[in-house]
Amino acid sequence: MPTDRLPEGEEKRAAVRDMFDTIAPRYDLVNRIMTFRLDVGVRKRTLQSLALEPRSTVLDLACGTGDFVKALEAQGHTAIGIDLSYGMMAAASHKSPYVQGDLLALPVADSSVDAAVCGYALRNLVALPPFFAELVRVVRPGGRIALVDVSAPEQRLLRAGFDLHFNKIVPLIGGLLSDKNAYSYLPRSVSYLPEPAEMLAQMTAAGLRDAQRTQLTLGIAQLLTARRP
Ligand SMILES: C[S@@+](CC[C@H](N)C(=O)[O-])C[C@H]1O[C@@H](n2cnc3c(N)ncnc32)[C@H](O)[C@@H]1O
Repeated sequence: MPTDRLPEGEEKRAAVRDMFDTIAPRYDLVNRIMTFRLDVGVRKRTLQSLALEPRSTVLDLACGTGDFVKALEAQGHTAIGIDLSYGMMAAASHKSPYVQGDLLALPVADSSVDAAVCGYALRNLVALPPFFAELVRVVRPGGRIALVDVSAPEQRLLRAGFDLHFNKIVPLIGGLLSDKNAYSYLPRSVSYLPEPAEMLAQMTAAGLRDAQRTQLTLGIAQLLTARRP
């Protein structure tokens, strides 16, 4: 992954896959240290927003090492993981099925799942509108989606702390424990995300309904929710 500029298109897709394959073995360790476990509450809230019926079938899109898969398993749901990086999925410890695939062309039949969740991957995608269109295609009518990613807090002091942590501490710790280039890229990749209003408009244009954005943990995470009509 180049450190001086952010890649686009196919170059970005290949670079993201290779990067996550590289950092997969120590991804969970580094993640636990750098998030101070704040992601635990965010994940809980994200799954709650799906309002799942018992024994639902749920896609974990960009599942990585499967934190959402494990939470869904624990709740008695059927989870299926999909990720571009085989290395990330191979490092997972859950029992659910997973398949290598791109979120922009899901290897999943139309209207075949009750809901879909996606954690911290939006900024890694080459484009968002084709992903939103895939969500409309694979989730059954009435099914819900929940997409969570980081966001920069609006409050000035919080923003300063966020910038320090994300732009300085994350690359430092990530570099010491894993891969310096990857953990320098990850904070910078936040700039790929469109403005909130633009993302909500793209979701609605793709055919999703009730698109909403909620800020979590003082604005360092954002949750996008919607349903298929
Ligand atoms: C920051 S990790 C998050 C993993 C997991 N969702 C979590 O919440 O911990 C981002 C994941 O997105 C995956 N990813 C990136 N682009 C993708 C794409 N186009 N299709 C599928 N997965 C993708 C990466 O391989 C990586 O596993």
